[in-house]
Amino acid sequence: MSQGLLHKYASLLPVTDQTPRLTLGEGATPLVYAEKLSDRIQAHVYLKLEGLNPTGSFKDRGMVMAVAKAKEEGASAVICASTGNTSASAAAYASKAGLSCFVVIPHGYVALGKLAQAMVYGADIIPIKGNFDQALQVVRQLSEKHPISLVNSVNPYRLEGQKTAAFEIREQLGRDVDIVALPVGNAGNISAYWKGFKEAHQVQMISKTPHMWGFEAEGAAAIVKNKVIENPDTFATAIRIGNPASWDLAVQAREESQGDIDDVTDEQIREAYELLSAEEGIFCEPASASSVAGLLKKANKGQVPEGATIVSVLTGNGLKDPTTAMDSINQELEPISGDEEELTKLIFKHQEV
Ligand code: F0G
Repeated sequence: MSQGLLHKYASLLPVTDQTPRLTLGEGATPLVYAEKLSDRIQAHVYLKLEGLNPTGSFKDRGMVMAVAKAKEEGASAVICASTGNTSASAAAYASKAGLSCFVVIPHGYVALGKLAQAMVYGADIIPIKGNFDQALQVVRQLSEKHPISLVNSVNPYRLEGQKTAAFEIREQLGRDVDIVALPVGNAGNISAYWKGFKEAHQVQMISKTPHMWGFEAEGAAAIVKNKVIENPDTFATAIRIGNPASWDLAVQAREESQGDIDDVTDEQIREAYELLSAEEGIFCEPASASSVAGLLKKANKGQVPEGATIVSVLTGNGLKDPTTAMDSINQELEPISGDEEELTKLIFKHQEV
């Protein structure tokens, strides 16, 4: 039986006897070796498949902690702003914990699968005519005035739960990692990983901390450009964020880890997204592919140390965004009669079988 992260890492988390041991079976996601990608960039690349968490994204690690603490503190409702995954995760854990859930989202910019999840889990969905940054601002204000627990990553419990991914990578790999590459949106994830690696180092779980490499979408690259982007724009809607809440923590992660935060274009993200499915058999969502896009960009510039051990975090499942998936294929499906002769002709037209 899956006992979840709060049980497994209780001694490394702010878990007390009063904390409900909430779980949907989060964590313990696969770490898969990517042969072709490794060949391409002359390093050893492992993909951390965070899209295999219970709601299909990495958010479940931090959300289980935040919702358990909200429950422990007697809250009856949680609220978040979201580009989609946070809302799906909050809605699921709120449902499990018996809390109400309100989600505020940028209207028209949340992928279909994520929207469907939040709705089916029973959250109250409030779309706004604005972007994620505006949604976050308004939920922060509201949660200060009313007894509704804010479960965005500005809630420190989110980063606490999220940091468990760093412990898990060490356990799965059985050795230290040189570089961790991941997408950056609101910048909670990179901050949490860095916290996790630093703590793992303190308790001698690892002998050295990795360099953190974060990648923003070019049209939403606030940290890279060192300025707030008023109208962030990228087809990777999960990271369409112009004023990341954990900006300072992400910069700290970059500095302390001697890492880097760089940007990738939508075209580079799309190429990585297609390459992952065509060559590695992995279907992730566009924002997730920005970590691989970033690795490829750095490899092209000769900036990937040869033979380095790299973990690239694929934050969300490809099924979250079926619209982008179908657009990327751009193929109309025409049914045939189902007759064997016709089928044989069609199959042998394209290739020798
Ligand atoms: N990848 C995916 C699939 C995401 O959903 C997000 C953020 C990120 C990467 C970036 O992580 O914000 O910690 O830097 N999604 C948030 C949401 C903003 O509302 O679901 P971050």
